[in-house]
This record gives sequence, structure tokens and C-alpha cells, in this order.
Amino acid sequence: MNNFDYLVPTEIFFGKGQIKVLGENIKKYGSRVLLVYGGGSIKKNGIYDDVIKILKDNAISFWELPGVEPNPRVTTVRKGIEICRENSIELVLAVGGGSTIDCSKVIAAGYYYKGDSWDIVVDPGKISKVLPIASILTLSATGSEMDENAVITNWETKEKIGTAHQEMQPKFSILDPTYTFTVPKNQTAAGTADIMSHIFENYFSKTTSAFVQNRMAEAMLKTCIKYGKIAIDDPQNYEARANLMWTSSLAINGLLSEGKETEWTVHGMEHELSAIYDITHGVGLAILTPNWMKYALSEDTVDKFTEYGINVWDIDSSKDKYTIANEAIQNTRDFFNSLGIPDTLAKVGINEENFEVMAKKATKWGTIGRFKPLEAKDIVNIYNASL
Ligand code: NZQ
Ligand code: ZN
Repeated sequence: MNNFDYLVPTEIFFGKGQIKVLGENIKKYGSRVLLVYGGGSIKKNGIYDDVIKILKDNAISFWELPGVEPNPRVTTVRKGIEICRENSIELVLAVGGGSTIDCSKVIAAGYYYKGDSWDIVVDPGKISKVLPIASILTLSATGSEMDENAVITNWETKEKIGTAHQEMQPKFSILDPTYTFTVPKNQTAAGTADIMSHIFENYFSKTTSAFVQNRMAEAMLKTCIKYGKIAIDDPQNYEARANLMWTSSLAINGLLSEGKETEWTVHGMEHELSAIYDITHGVGLAILTPNWMKYALSEDTVDKFTEYGINVWDIDSSKDKYTIANEAIQNTRDFFNSLGIPDTLAKVGINEENFEVMAKKATKWGTIGRFKPLEAKDIVNIYNASL
């Protein structure tokens, strides 16, 4: 196992009714809050009313930034920074999914940055200080509630880029599984695929000595496989929503990645798709993942795919290793199909027109991935296999 330095300072308040701690925890950081949310789901399901009541009861002043887009835009980040500066905001409170939390993180970092906020997306080294951030999670997917990352889209340049800073980890996050009861089936499916992809990006690695990380990853994959479909068929199933919610946070908070090499190639390829076509992140990942797996399978990697097949899909270990690997890849595709996720790029309106451009952008700093290093031509091949 490689050396590492691990710190996750985010306090998690998990479970039904945990919203009750909101007021006292905000007041640790101040009493002037920017409330950030998306296109209105929190107004329909009552979460907005819960939050406003607590803010008022605790005499916390608040300003609102509604309308954060899925695949949040830098233009919205800029609006948020302006409101923070005009009103001396002391804490940014994100209520929503990954898009809302990511947007809030870059607002909080941009508050202290003198130049344009796109600079700190492109170069996280320019982030020096960050306003405190808190989140109330409403969709299990990205893990943004417990990590230091934020992914922002620049619609003018057609770029979608991830930035990160340790201080962008929320100070606290409220994870109430009942707040995800209203997530529609397609977003529950996409969220489950996103969680699984985070696990895969950490799991498929040439570091063979990280035994404990690998067994935790397999347990988390099994959790998604067990509960993803249940949450879709029975949206108010608390056990399913709770298990998915906690797995969302654990998959990308460093538990699975520290101490080993990680991959992050399917994410690199997907971000290029969303940057141009504005598709749902988890859908893009589900389309690409089994095709990436097939492309990555070789004499060099077959043992890892065999491990995946036996430990996650319970495939008979006496079978030939390529048979196990191929069955595991097919099971992955069948699982995403069972969640109702489209299985080709064509089904989400993408053709080959921009494959070369996207592959070049994904590899602008060089080859991506170490388990299966990909050059631009490999990415074009995987996009083509996904058509
Ligand atoms: O905008 P509203 O009206 O709130 O509706 C949202 C949105 O339409 C809806 N939704 C969320 N909670 C709901 C709900 N609808 C009903 N009931 C609820 N309880 O779901 C839709 C999607 O929301 P969004 O926040 O966009 O989804 P997600 O959480 O999947 O976030 C996706 C973004 O996060 C980035 C993605 O690239 C994408 O931009 N990622 C962030 C990461 C991170 N910070 O670590 C890592 C990921 O790999 C990912 O790249
Ligand atoms: Zn993701």
C-alpha cells in the first residue's frame, strides 16, 4: 500500500429528521447565509420550507441563489459570488444534488479570488481561502457532500472541468434519506451508476496490495447492485435510499482511493460528452463503462476483472478467467439496462461528429489512466464502440 495523508473534516448528520441540527451548526460559522438550490425540486417536496423555517427560527439572515443547472455553469457561480460579496455572506448552504453543491463550492472559493472564477476551475492552485460550506443532500450520486471536488461547465468554451481544494470539503452535511424519496427514476438510476463508476475508478488499479480498499469497494458495489433497483421500483424504501446515500459519500471520500493508484478515465471521457451535449453525468458513465471494460480487458488486466467477477457478481471461480471477466462485464451492462439507462450514445442523441475533438480535449495533458492508459485514439475507439 502507498503512503497517504487522509483528512475528511466533514461532519455527517445522517438519518431521518437530522435537519433539526441545521440552525445550531450554521451558527458556529455565522448568521449570514447564501442558500443555493437548483431548478425547484426542493420547493415541490417541502425541503425548502423546512430549511427556511429553521433559518427564520434561528434569526439567520439569508439570501437565495436559485436555478443552479444540472452540469452547473460558471455564469451561475459568478452570480453567487456577487451576492456573497454584496451581503458579506459567512456560509454557503447548498440544498440539492451534486450540481448545487459543486456550484456552492466554487462560489465559496471564488469569494476570496480577485480574478474571474473560471480561473480557479482551470487551476485549483489559485484557490487560497474558501468560505465555509454546508450541504443538505437531496440526491445520492456524486459524493460532493463529503469530498473536495467540484465540476463546473463553461458553456461558451464547451469545457467541463473538475477543480478541488481541501477547504472545499463541506464543514457539515445533512444526509436524510427521506429527502431522496422524490428523486425520479431516471435520476435514481443515473445516481446509482455514478456511485458505481466512482468505485470502479478506484477499484481498477494495478496496486495489488490495497486489499482492504478493494474489499470495501466490492461491498459498496454490491450495495448499489442490491439497492439501486429497489429504490427505482419502491422510491420510498428507506433502507434502499439510506444505503445508496451513505455509499454515495463513502465511494469518493478517499476511503477507496488512498494508498493506491486510481484510474479516472471513464470520468474523463464522460465530462467531454456532458461539456458538449449536456447529458446526465451518470447516464454517460453507464453507457461508456462496459465498453471501457471490454477495451481494457487484456492479459495484463484479466486478473483484476476476474476478481471483480468472482467477488462482486459471485461468478463460479472454477471457470476460465476470460469467461469470468466477460460475464462480469456483461452483468455490468445488464445491470445498467435493468435500471432503464440508455445503453448507447445514439440513444442520447450523440453521433461521431465530435469524437476526435472530445478525445483530444480529454488527453490534453497526455495519456489518461494507469490501469489501462488511454491515448486520444483509444478514446475514439471507446466512443465508437458506445455508439
Ligand atoms: O434542480 P432541481 O430542481 O433540484 O432537480 C434536480 C436535477 O434536475 C433533481 N433532483 C435532485 N434532488 C431531487 C431532485 N428531484 C426530485 N427530488 C429530489 N430530492 O435531479 C436532477 C439532477 O441533479 P444534479 O444535482 O445535477 O445531479 P447529480 O447529483 O448527479 O450531480 C451531477 C453533477 O455533479 C458532477 C457531475 O459532473 C454533474 O455536473 N460531479 C461531481 C462530483 C464531485 N463533486 O465530486 C463527482 C462526480 O463524478 C461528478 O462529476
Ligand atoms: Zn461521477
